[in-house]
Amino acid sequence: MSESTAAASPIRGVFMKTYGCQMNEYDSDKMLQLIEKTHGFKQVENPNDADLVLLNTCSIREKAQEKVFDALGVWRGWKARKPGRLIGVGGCVASQEGEAIRSRAPYVDMIFGPQTLHRLPQMIDAASQLSDDGKKPSVIDVSFPEIEKFDSLPEPRADGVSAFVSVMEGCSKYCTFCVVPYTRGEEVSRPFNDVIAEVTRLAEQGVREVNLLGQNVNAYRGEMEDGSIADLALLMHALARIPGIGRLRYTTSHPNEMSQSLIDCYATIPQLVSHLHLPIQSGSDRILTQMKRGHMVLEYKSTIRKIRALRPDLSLSGDFIIGFPGETDQDYQDTMNLIADLKYDRSFSFIYSPRPGTPAAYLPDDVDVEVKKQRLARLQDRLNQLTMDISTAMIGSVKRILVERPSRKNPKEMAGRTENNRVVNFEASNDILGQFVDVKITSASNNSLRGELVATPEAELYANKPRQKFFQIYSLS
Ligand code: SAH
Ligand code: F3S
Repeated sequence: MSESTAAASPIRGVFMKTYGCQMNEYDSDKMLQLIEKTHGFKQVENPNDADLVLLNTCSIREKAQEKVFDALGVWRGWKARKPGRLIGVGGCVASQEGEAIRSRAPYVDMIFGPQTLHRLPQMIDAASQLSDDGKKPSVIDVSFPEIEKFDSLPEPRADGVSAFVSVMEGCSKYCTFCVVPYTRGEEVSRPFNDVIAEVTRLAEQGVREVNLLGQNVNAYRGEMEDGSIADLALLMHALARIPGIGRLRYTTSHPNEMSQSLIDCYATIPQLVSHLHLPIQSGSDRILTQMKRGHMVLEYKSTIRKIRALRPDLSLSGDFIIGFPGETDQDYQDTMNLIADLKYDRSFSFIYSPRPGTPAAYLPDDVDVEVKKQRLARLQDRLNQLTMDISTAMIGSVKRILVERPSRKNPKEMAGRTENNRVVNFEASNDILGQFVDVKITSASNNSLRGELVATPEAELYANKPRQKFFQIYSLS
């Protein structure tokens, strides 16, 4: 990608607003890094200090999409208050509704999709020139140039001991309710060596835990140097050998991509956490078929059973859609039975939202919206209860924790996460930042756990290492 010509532009502050999923969070970070490099933009917390605002949008449900259109009115006023200000709208709403944004909000300067965010510097240049002329047609680019995006993004920059690494993009599953394949495009995987190189550099900067990201991350099929294709299992085997990498996670996965080689990783890769986010959406075979998920409840259960045979402590989370068109009381009850049966932990649940252009949007829907709301409330109560049961059951046990940061409330405490993603606060000094330690859980609340430090198995290892890198990450003195 050519360097931008507007490096000397007076525009400096950027305010970023991110909606939606972890992929969007990841994309937002990359955008910020990119325009800092090309244009010297610095992220600001207060929009009044900004010359550029970027909205990274989500269209997975109607509410998320409407939020964006509501917000645009406010940003119009913000732009009018200072000449030269720019508004950019990226993400999935831009991808699907680019033209609608242009006509409903012509004051938006740049419209780009998840696959063209790497062209932001050029778009900023173009938009800045247009505004100098007093003309305002939005610069719009919502195409799908496949892998080009990954090649053009800046070098990875660690900002903590845990990092997200995107390994694939898009989805080719076309579930009947879902807009993702249309907004993010079909599945595209990054080459194997690129991922290894990125994780190696992150590990050199002090990263200990990597969360591999993708809309369907277990559909990863990355090309290797010799032209053969690596799956997620092979990728994780290689990543687990990188010095310093003590934990691996992956999200979000599809049940049909839980291959035997991936299941085997739970036996062969100790760094792979005993936690799996595996959305099923519904516990009813009839609804799963209508959703075109491509599997039955029994197959899903069998996958979980196989993994739990290897990891009896596996914590399972999922996504559920309530009120899919035609969902009967029995279908709903099947979902309730499934969550109790498999003992889901910390899951996500939503009322079905018809998405324009998806097949399910044309299905007759005779379920009353009040019934859907009641079903969702009952499901969420049950899920919360299951989550609390799991937290409570952890009291008294000793858990391995990655120490991520000082505790937010008490400077004498540190905070880290368990394998099943619980934040644990406990008394300890800064010295153990970035280490895996053992903590005995003493109490549990809705959002976090408390514990007592019982062992620091990596202390010796760290005693002989330059610790500066961790302090750089956290700018502690
Ligand atoms: N790849 C994942 C899904 C990613 S989308 C999978 O295999 O299932 C994230 C979640 O949003 C989905 O799991 C689903 O629960 C929810 N979702 C997607 N489309 C939706 C819609 N139209 N209405 C309500 N929830 C939806
Ligand atoms: Fe959406 Fe189904 Fe893919 S839920 S992201 S189309 S697996």
